[in-house]
Formats: sequence, C-alpha cells, structure tokens
Amino acid sequence: MNAARGVLIAGNWKMNHGPKAAREFADSLVGPWSRLSPAACAAIADRGLQALVFPPFLSLAATKDEFAKHGLPVSVGAQNVHWDEKGAYTGEISGPMLKELGFDWTLVGHSERRQHFGETDATVRKRAESHLKQGFRVVLCIGETRAEREAGQTEAVLERQLTQGLPALPEAGQALALGWGDRLVLAYEPVWAIGTGLTATPAQAEEAHAFVRAEAAKRYSPAIAAKLQILYGGSVTPENVAGLLDCPNVDGGLVGGASLKPESFAAMVATAGERMSARR
Ligand code: PGA
Repeated sequence: MNAARGVLIAGNWKMNHGPKAAREFADSLVGPWSRLSPAACAAIADRGLQALVFPPFLSLAATKDEFAKHGLPVSVGAQNVHWDEKGAYTGEISGPMLKELGFDWTLVGHSERRQHFGETDATVRKRAESHLKQGFRVVLCIGETRAEREAGQTEAVLERQLTQGLPALPEAGQALALGWGDRLVLAYEPVWAIGTGLTATPAQAEEAHAFVRAEAAKRYSPAIAAKLQILYGGSVTPENVAGLLDCPNVDGGLVGGASLKPESFAAMVATAGERMSARR
C-alpha cells in the first residue's frame, strides 16, 4: 500500500445474497463495525480507506438503503453494466438506470464474465470507457489462468489484457484534470486463485502489480500510473490480507467468498485501517 493512494476493500458478492440476505448482512455489519479500532476509524474518516460491495442487481437498493439506515460508510456498486446507455439489449442494465438510483461504481471484466459470458478485452474496454465517461468509478479486472502462468505467459497475458482492454484517455492531457485516473481502479485477479483457496503469495502479487503499474505508465503517464489503485483478488481472507497490503503496489483487495460474512468483511477493513495507521 501507499498512503497517497489510499486502500480499497471491495466485496464481490457474485450471485449471492438476495435482498433479504443483503439487509441481514448490513444489519449484522453494525456490530463488528462499531468495534473497529480508533486507527481503523481514522483511516476511514480521513486517510483514504474505502469499503465497497458489489451485490447482485436485485439486492443493490436493499443493500444501499440498509447501509444508509445504519450510517455505515460502505459504497455499493453493480457487477455488470452495458456500455450503451439504452436500447434493445434484453436482459441488460445501463449506467443511467444505476445513476438514477444513486449508484456510482461498476465492476468490469471479471474472469467469470470472461469465462462464462463471452466478455472479451474489446467489450471490457467498451464498458470501461463508457462507464468512465458517464462518471462512474470502475474496477477493471485482469489476470492469467493457471495454464498461462505455468507456461510462463503471465506478463504477456497481462500486457495483452491491458493493451486491448484499458480505456483510452478522454483527451490528451485532460485525464489528470478530469480526475479520470481517480475513478479507474484495476484489479489483478489470477484466475487460478479465485475461489480456490490458493492465494498468490505477496511476492507473486507484488511482481504482477509492479508490472501492471509499469504498463499503465507506458499506456497513460507515470503520473496517472502512480495514482492508480491496483487491487489484488483471489482467495483474500482476513488471515492473508495484511501480508498482501504490505506490498508497495497492492492498494486493496477484491474479495469474493470472504466478503459474504459481515465479520470477515469488517475484519479485512479493520486490518487495512490498522496497517495504514501503522505506516504513518
Ligand atoms: P474469491 O473471489 O475471493 O472467492 O477468490 C474473488 C473474486 O472473484 O473477485
């Protein structure tokens, strides 16, 4: 982590927690949240620690309302959003629909969308460009499969995903002024680590994150790359999050399974806050 970039702990609920379970999650988060240490509270209040969850569409409103009811500072975003703002796309939802309900985060390019729903680098880029243009904050996921890692292709895969999938700058020289770099977040998620319990080691994560940041510097600018938050995802838990966050280029976590329980979600936020405060 790096104090200037802050830390983001994002929970990806995938196809879990309908509206009732989402409300129960928020209700049960109140206890562990009230027990966060002063250091963690300070990190949330003014040191750039953010918490976020991506519920399924049908639970978005319930989650947001229940967090608001309890005064919990946890943002809520959508797992998959079309690039067009309206039109003949049966089964899809658009950015303006989410904006109308007050949501401003989207998740793009998750490996499960790539594996099961035909997402490609080209559609990842279309979504990310459109969402950023519409003013959303976007978490864009990349990562290699086990076969690709074993074949020594990790960097080649990341380079391809970034070259073809990263959104274009709005206008040369304008990106920093528009705060554009602050609204794009990357998530390095090795596919072999997702849902498998096989977390990347801090050394593996740091190596990949440093590579991703260097690629972003080439593609955009060193100034934008230096500000870019890069999350690690793949079997992050309350037990291993500290070691990952201690890597200089790891700016948070995108967490699936361990984000579904309020206690473990709060525990990861607590650890992030304490690590941030310890580094000051
Ligand atoms: P996991 O999922 O934490 O359950 O491995 C991470 C993700 O898919 O974003």
